[in-house]
Amino acid sequence: MPTPRHWERDKDNIDTFTPTLEAGSSKQSQVRRALIMDKFVIRGGNPLVGTVTVSGAKNSALPCMAAAILTEDEITLENIPQVRDIETERRLLASMGAEVELREGELKDRTTISCRTLSDPVARYEIVKTMRASSLVLGPLIARAGVARVAMPGGCAIGGRPIDLHIKGLEKMGAVIAQEHGYLEARAERLRGAHLVFDKITVTGTEDLLMAAVLAEGETLMENCAREPEVVDLAALLTAMGAKIEGAGTATIRVEGVTSLHGARYRINPDRIEAGTFLIAGAITAGDLIVSNCNASHLGAVIAKLTEAGARIDVLGPDSVRVRASGLRAADISTEEYPGFPTDMQAQYMALATQAEGVSQVRENIFENRFMHVQELVRMGANIKVDGSAATVRGPARLTSAAVMCSDLRASASLVLAALVAEGESIVDRVYHMDRGYERFEEKLIGVGAQIQRLGNVFAPREPAAVAD
Ligand code: UD1
Repeated sequence: MPTPRHWERDKDNIDTFTPTLEAGSSKQSQVRRALIMDKFVIRGGNPLVGTVTVSGAKNSALPCMAAAILTEDEITLENIPQVRDIETERRLLASMGAEVELREGELKDRTTISCRTLSDPVARYEIVKTMRASSLVLGPLIARAGVARVAMPGGCAIGGRPIDLHIKGLEKMGAVIAQEHGYLEARAERLRGAHLVFDKITVTGTEDLLMAAVLAEGETLMENCAREPEVVDLAALLTAMGAKIEGAGTATIRVEGVTSLHGARYRINPDRIEAGTFLIAGAITAGDLIVSNCNASHLGAVIAKLTEAGARIDVLGPDSVRVRASGLRAADISTEEYPGFPTDMQAQYMALATQAEGVSQVRENIFENRFMHVQELVRMGANIKVDGSAATVRGPARLTSAAVMCSDLRASASLVLAALVAEGESIVDRVYHMDRGYERFEEKLIGVGAQIQRLGNVFAPREPAAVAD
């Protein structure tokens, strides 16, 4: 059975759950036991039929939670997804002295955050290392507290992911930033408005500097900004808090700084990546799926590409999209910043391409190391060749069940999608990556006909012996 509160656990941060292991056990045995993680057993072959509901966008919720740092008043956010990254952000804010309430029961998708006192404006490495988006607190902390100590995020599975553009922008606004012992130490009396031109389009970079600019003295002009809907979500919350922002959702954002912001209530938009993943799930299984509570206007590039690949997509309304498919054909994708095809959908699309007739070229332009799912798809029988940032997928391939390993959040979705059409029972291991960003993913898929079982328990003494249906 699915574990109801699995998203709360923090399995890749051994330090946080070590205390619950028995006293006296060695670090080695703690690590060995910690590595026994939840996995999915998936029996492929069922077309997905029915209606599946999309949760709130993780990548909007994270910056919106960070925005609460900017005011002494309460911020209430609705449509918060119950995923592990949100719990990590809650811990991060709480460790700084904020009061963060994540509701239960009927109100469980709502959080209220009060940063009245920020006694400790430090983002500790123990928390930051598990979630790169922690760098989103840098700008708001300097803007609100005049001082910040934030651990450098370090590398991650999909590339180096530097934050040099965040630092460069903040320095231009008058912050003095030094790097010591793996931490950024930042200081500013009051940030000054500035003319910022991003060398490269960065989503969290745009969000971080936007949050810094709203409390800066004077005007900030930001150029070459990310246009992602998540930036628009953040700007809408900030505006509700009293910020003066023009142009969010375009490449040029203009901010007139104010001296203080007040409390607000805001509803997070639906998760476009989760919605896109379900559209692919419907298409790859030759199903008939209605994806509800989505924002169809955010799905343009994905809908266009699935249509080109032979899926039949009907936009039933502004928040509902139906997908049907019987027979897919090859179509190339090239990842781009919004409104282009999202890098966060590349791995899932790759799974679909293995089932399409012909040769599909998949080009990854945003991150340098985002093909970790390929070797696992190949183990299931996919025919994929990688050459630098391009992959050639020949289909349709007969996928057969295998034990595969998730390497990152979207790779995990790709492997689940492949397993849904593979013959036999696949085991998808390390689904804690999936729990970072998909709310009750397996439960939602089971609801439309998938055969999935979550197995394993982080404290189980050994690998589960049997594979249940
Ligand atoms: C965000 C999303 C992530 C998505 C990505 C691209 C969140 C929490 N995460 O990540 O899901 O995959 O956008 O759509 O919203 N870069 C620099 N210097 C910087 C910042 C970025 O060189 O200071 C580079 C990165 O290495 C990368 C590119 O810019 O090659 C885009 O990265 P960015 O948009 O910043 O990704 P994130 O905001 O981390």
